Amino acid sequence: MKTPNTTEPMLRLTWTDPVTGTHGYLVVHSLVSGIATGGTRMRRGCTLSEVEDLARGMASKTAAFNLPVGGAKGGIDCDPKDPEARGVLERFCTAMRPWLDAHWVTAEDLGVPQHLIDDVFAKIGLQQSYHAAITRSSDPQRTLQRVQAGLNAPVPGGQLLGDVIGGYGVAQACLGVAGAWGWHGAETTVAIQGVGTMGGGAAWYLHEAGVRVVAVADAAGTLYHPSGLDIPALLELRDRYGEIDRSGVAADVQRLPRDAVGTVGADIFVPAAISYAITPDNAMEVKARVVVEAANAATTPEAEAMLAARDIPVIPDFIANAGAAAWAWWLLLGEVGADPADSFLRLRNEMQAKVALLAAEWEATRVSPRSTGLMLAERNQAERVAAEATGEAVLAIP
Ligand SMILES: NC(=O)c1ccc[n+]([C@@H]2O[C@H](COP(=O)([O-])OP(=O)(O)OC[C@H]3O[C@@H](n4cnc5c(N)ncnc54)[C@H](O)[C@@H]3O)[C@@H](O)[C@H]2O)c1
Repeated sequence: MKTPNTTEPMLRLTWTDPVTGTHGYLVVHSLVSGIATGGTRMRRGCTLSEVEDLARGMASKTAAFNLPVGGAKGGIDCDPKDPEARGVLERFCTAMRPWLDAHWVTAEDLGVPQHLIDDVFAKIGLQQSYHAAITRSSDPQRTLQRVQAGLNAPVPGGQLLGDVIGGYGVAQACLGVAGAWGWHGAETTVAIQGVGTMGGGAAWYLHEAGVRVVAVADAAGTLYHPSGLDIPALLELRDRYGEIDRSGVAADVQRLPRDAVGTVGADIFVPAAISYAITPDNAMEVKARVVVEAANAATTPEAEAMLAARDIPVIPDFIANAGAAAWAWWLLLGEVGADPADSFLRLRNEMQAKVALLAAEWEATRVSPRSTGLMLAERNQAERVAAEATGEAVLAIP
């Protein structure tokens, strides 16, 4: 059987916006029980092949975390700051409606916060971006209430659970790495590229765990302090695009070029912004001891091989950033509810266990964490296919 990482996608769709002429894409890598899951991104320059890579990554993610659904992704070639962006997203979702009605569960991604996509879904009469799963439930109204209560549960820092859970999972992946290699919290340093939903959440929970976050970058540049940044203060200064207002940043924080975040020499580098952040052009400059991918497709295969040759493992996206997707499905399936403590505990345990497995394999055999993760996904997928063959129900949403 082919692994979820190597099969061709079952569907590639290209959409042209009748108003602006911009393009949007939907790639469904695989359907399981008639459903695929994956966020929708907006980025000037987004391509079909990028969305295809991301959909494949989603299929690996759902298999690795034993979620009873396939993988998909949406992408729109539009700057999220463009005044037309919301209209473009609305028209894209309207055009994708046959998929969104019944087969594609989407959510936030780069340039598209969850509240924005939910607003758009409400406007086009689909209520919430998990609509295709909610309508499959035995009690759609109760499921919708459970989903909304979970997404909107307040957490410390004035945030909502749905906005921080993905970043919390990335922080747990970093803590899992540190634990596996016996690094102590306060002695461990982290640099994070991107301080939006994923990077900001990861920074918050790493800081809270006592890890020193020494560098963060947003689209405007890198901020660096060798003894650790005041993360809560910096996150307060973000605008809705995840950019930090430099006028409020403390004077002793160094302002470095945007790409310096990968080369400052922290123990852990977390790319949490763009795809293809680490390429053969900059892989030799990465000074971290390990890369933890919060961004999807953050490292190209060539760059990952170059890092491995330098003894720098990469904890792959489909494990490290899977918290948001896994949690959304735990919520849909009624396995967690509105109490953030249950969600944090479940995600911490699952993420740290997986990362420990990947790290141990790397330590013992130098098999890449990506290969070990894909083997895990393949094994889970084979078990699911066998369960389907016996007629066991795969997707049952209460
Ligand atoms: N949001 C989710 O639920 C989720 C889940 C899994 C994976 N991801 C992935 O994580 C990544 C980030 O998504 P997000 O939702 O946090 O995005 P976001 O739009 O909330 O934040 C993006 C951040 O990256 C910064 N940025 C943009 N370009 C940059 C550059 N060239 N250099 C440095 N910083 C830059 C922005 O200023 C902002 O701080 C994406 O690859 C996305 O696919 C997101």
